Amino acid sequence: MVIFMVKVRVPATTANLGPGFDTLGLALNLYNEFTFEEIPEGYKISGFKKEYGSTNNLVYRSIKETFREIGYTPTGISIDANTNIPISRGLGSSASCILAGVIGGNELAGRPLGKDEIFQLATKIEGHPDNIAPALFGGLVISLMEEEKVIYNRIEVAKGIKFIALISDFTLSTKESREVLPSMVEYKDCINNINKVALLISALTNGRFDLLRYAFKDRLHEPYRGKLIPDFFNIIEKCKKMDSLGVYLSGAGPTIMCIIDEDNEEFTKEIKAYLHTLDQPWNIRELNIDLEGTKIL
Ligand code: HSE
Repeated sequence: MVIFMVKVRVPATTANLGPGFDTLGLALNLYNEFTFEEIPEGYKISGFKKEYGSTNNLVYRSIKETFREIGYTPTGISIDANTNIPISRGLGSSASCILAGVIGGNELAGRPLGKDEIFQLATKIEGHPDNIAPALFGGLVISLMEEEKVIYNRIEVAKGIKFIALISDFTLSTKESREVLPSMVEYKDCINNINKVALLISALTNGRFDLLRYAFKDRLHEPYRGKLIPDFFNIIEKCKKMDSLGVYLSGAGPTIMCIIDEDNEEFTKEIKAYLHTLDQPWNIRELNIDLEGTKIL
């Protein structure tokens, strides 16, 4: 059967989770939706901000790359977006655009690619797998590149926590955020992160949420990136003093992510009052883990 129209929903993601730099990613219940249609000719791109309305659009470039990869030539393409994931905030907006383009293109071409091939292609376009993996599979995913292949493992997170995203008004690109990282790190800092990420994964899977407060002490990226974000270190300290279970820089930032007990109703009110005292505006979103990953609606 030839499909002419398809709608794809992709979740936001939070990568790194502190010590799991370039390794861990988790899907959240905040979504971008994209509708793809094969049209008689040309291209139509709608629903994006004006600056993303041309052929440099990441969804468009990803669908074109997918068609090239699978050898399909559509008559024309229409892409319509309904987006909720903020751009350049460390919440996986780029991964959502890439995955939507790859999956939308695959559907229109009659589904020649399987899920694993979709994962490999989307990772090739993004350049790293830690947002693509959870956005595609849902939940918490460990991913890495090994000999040109992307390896991943999805793990179950115990129930009982929720995520509070502190989203700044300003943006920070992954490129800028990577430029401040050092080329060498100390041995003891590597050991710190190995300790913490092992503790983090075990605590999330077996529900020892009391241990999370010891697990989020990253020394490989947050100390450097934090300097790019006004009030970063103060906000982290404030969240630790309040009853957050853990707090970390989401992906390349600037969003700061707090993990709290699912029954905690006070934290959001208190952190909101604190953020209002700062010079830069911050928005707050309460989120839960998405377990479905990308869905064709
Ligand atoms: N792991 C990457 C980084 C995520 O922290 O740079 C970027 O989306």
